[in-house]
Amino acid sequence: MSMLEIRGLNVNYGDFHAIQDVSMDVEANSVVSLIGANGAGKSTLINAICGVNKIRSGSVTFLGHDITKQKTSKIVSLGLTSSPEGSHCFEKMTIQDNLLQGAYLCRSGKERRKRLDEIYELFPVLKEKSKQLATYLSGGQRQMLAIGRAMMTQPKLLICDEISLGLAPVVIKDIYVQLEKVREKGITLVIVDQDVNRSLTNSDYTYVMLEGRIVMAGESKKMNIDEVNDAYFGINLEKKEA
Ligand SMILES: Nc1ncnc2c1ncn2[C@@H]1O[C@H](COP(=O)(O)OP(=O)(O)O)[C@@H](O)[C@H]1O
Ligand SMILES: [Mg+2]
Repeated sequence: MSMLEIRGLNVNYGDFHAIQDVSMDVEANSVVSLIGANGAGKSTLINAICGVNKIRSGSVTFLGHDITKQKTSKIVSLGLTSSPEGSHCFEKMTIQDNLLQGAYLCRSGKERRKRLDEIYELFPVLKEKSKQLATYLSGGQRQMLAIGRAMMTQPKLLICDEISLGLAPVVIKDIYVQLEKVREKGITLVIVDQDVNRSLTNSDYTYVMLEGRIVMAGESKKMNIDEVNDAYFGINLEKKEA
């Protein structure tokens, strides 16, 4: 059994069928890429997995628990957390207070401290700036803060939506180095990145989404980048239909 199993998932926004019969598997200790153009449905799928979007039909199983109709808080407590698109943070709060927003599952002050120290070790820049307001952070630092806050819930599976959006290449490289350290802690990762090449290089398995469907999936290192690009843009589909 995979750590996360999605079977025949359908999600609607009113009449709009945003997620169409999606099935996916995420193996424990792997890194899975979810790629697709803007509007493909990646965030909708993630929000459905995490209990934010209502699921019309299909199922989501995490570590053997049926989480299809679970509340987000319950899903997080089972060990599945997402770091949302746009690296949202609380602007008027300090870095530390932002991180503590993710600490609600910690049972004691000691545990909270331990979690914080772990995040600070992973992202030293957050420690340096811990007393500063989030509003002064750069884009890359915000992304680290968003990941750090998600890590405070001690996830077994962390889903990072739009990991590189709006960031400079050197900053993206840095984020990936840190994600590798997250992985070394035994945390399974699902990463959404718009860059096909980077996604294939940095993951074990890749899923390509197009217009609400998974149109290609496979072991990242065995995938052909031209074919993945075609799937990403729906080029083969157009050829077939023409
Ligand atoms: N809250 C919403 N209400 C209606 N339609 C939405 C909503 N959020 C997203 N959509 C639509 O659903 C589709 C998938 O969007 P999204 O999941 O954000 O894609 P991605 O994350 O891959 O860019 C798009 O066509 C988008 O316009
Ligand atoms: Mg999105």
